[in-house]
This record gives sequence, C-alpha cells and structure tokens, in this order.
Amino acid sequence: MKWAPITSTLLLVSTATFALPTTKRATELCGQWDTEEIGDYIVYNNAWNQDKGTGSQCTQIKGLNNNELAWSSAWSWDGTKYDVKTYPNAKYKPLAAKPKQLSSISSIPFKWNWSYKGDNLITDVAFDLWTAPSADSDLEFEIMIWLAAIGGAGPLGNQVGTFEYGGTNWKLYEGSNGSQKVYSFIAGNTIEKLSSDALPFLQHLVKSGYIADSQYLRDIQAGTEPFIGSNAVFETTAYTVTVK
Ligand SMILES: *[C@@H]1O[C@H](CO)[C@@H](O)[C@H](O)[C@H]1NC(C)=O
Ligand SMILES: *[C@@H]1O[C@H](CO)[C@@H](O)[C@H](O)[C@H]1NC(C)=O
Repeated sequence: MKWAPITSTLLLVSTATFALPTTKRATELCGQWDTEEIGDYIVYNNAWNQDKGTGSQCTQIKGLNNNELAWSSAWSWDGTKYDVKTYPNAKYKPLAAKPKQLSSISSIPFKWNWSYKGDNLITDVAFDLWTAPSADSDLEFEIMIWLAAIGGAGPLGNQVGTFEYGGTNWKLYEGSNGSQKVYSFIAGNTIEKLSSDALPFLQHLVKSGYIADSQYLRDIQAGTEPFIGSNAVFETTAYTVTVK
C-alpha cells in the first residue's frame, strides 16, 4: 500500500476525529555546520573542532515562547581531554547584522536557564562575545563568560585578575586563540539560572586597559563547549538577550 499525501481538508477532518500526534518533530542539526533560525536567534551545531576526537552531536530548537528561546544539544565526544570539540550555541542575530561600538551600549540584559546531564563530562557553559576595531574588520577579541566549568574544564591562558559582580567572584583569564586574544571570566560556582547584564564584564576589560571602548561588539553567542563525555544532554529552557 502507498501513502497518499494528506490534504489540508483531510487533516482538519482527521485531527478533529482521531488523536493524531500533535508535536511536530523539530529539525535535528547534526552536521558540522548545520544552523537553524528562529526569532532573533540563529542556533548552530558548530562542531568546529570535531577532528580532535570521535563522537557525535545533534542540536535542536525546542521553541520560542514570549521571545524566550529553548534549545538543546545532545553529544558524546571522546579523544583529547584538553581540546574543546564543538560550540553548539545560539547567536543573537540583530547584533551580527548591525554591530555596536562598546561606548554606545547602555546595557546587555540577558536571561539564561540551563541544565546538563551526562557521564564523565568535561565541558563548560559560556557566552562568547566577539569584538573588532570596526564593523567589518577581522575579529580581534573574544570575551567568554563561563557560567560553569564542569569536570575540571579550564579556559585558555593564565589568570590575570578577579571581578566581583552580581554576588559572584569571577576569575579573569587572558590567553590567545590563534588570531584572537581571549579574555575569559570564570564563575566561582556553577550558575544554572541567571538574569543579569553582560555589559559590566566588557566595561571591566575597558577599565583595566585590555580593550578599547571604540571596539565594535560584533557577536553574542551563548552555548556550551564539550571537551569529552558521553550521553550528554545540554538543555537551555529559557534564553533571551538584547543589546541596548
Ligand atoms: C577558537 O577558535 C574557534 C575557531 O575560530 C572558535 O570557534 C572558538 O570559539 C575559539 N575559542 C576558544 C576559546 O576555543
Ligand atoms: C528560569 O529561571 C527563573 C528564575 O529561577 C524562573 O523564574 C523561570 O520560571 C525559569 N524559566 C524557565 C522557562 O525555566
């Protein structure tokens, strides 16, 4: 027997009559560079460094409710313990289209609720912000804000200071990622729910003389960096960010 395409009329009749499944399965992003857009966000599977290990990863948009994005990434990665394999993340689209100079930003309010489960995980949960000297030049600085360093995951470089903010003590690291200088703020304890402002982190770098406030904020991404682990499921139940 062959299935005939269901017409909309038929579907209307049948949903009213039978208990058809109502949940449409969202696209799974399993390819190295797969992406999907929703609202103000672009969700990336971003398995940029997958050749450093063996494994797999699929990322999925779960929905957008009241402008709060829900998404998840399921992965297992084996291989070198000290290399990040991927960065599944949600990027804020309006900023990428129209970068803003740090001096002209008044706040970067965000909200992020997330959870992790899995076996023998070494991973982090982090924002990745990128700046450059102009709106279209090569990226110069990468600023990470780690809400969690799980299983001993560590940032690039060496600790250069601390930053007290929002009741948390953040350790500040300075390092390099090939062509970008990387500043990483590492929360002293895991923060699974946070409603805050990301601008003070950037302002701290400006005040400390690490970056100029003439730099353009080009991207804000929020995601996780798996090193190794198995049966991992990273779940973001609510995420929003804006740049004002
Ligand atoms: C390093 O570089 C890659 C490729 O440019 C990038 O995607 C990644 O986020 C960078 N950062 C760190 C801390 O590894
Ligand atoms: C996110 O966390 C906040 C603070 O705990 C809570 O009020 C809110 O209901 C959470 N939202 C979701 C969708 O998990």
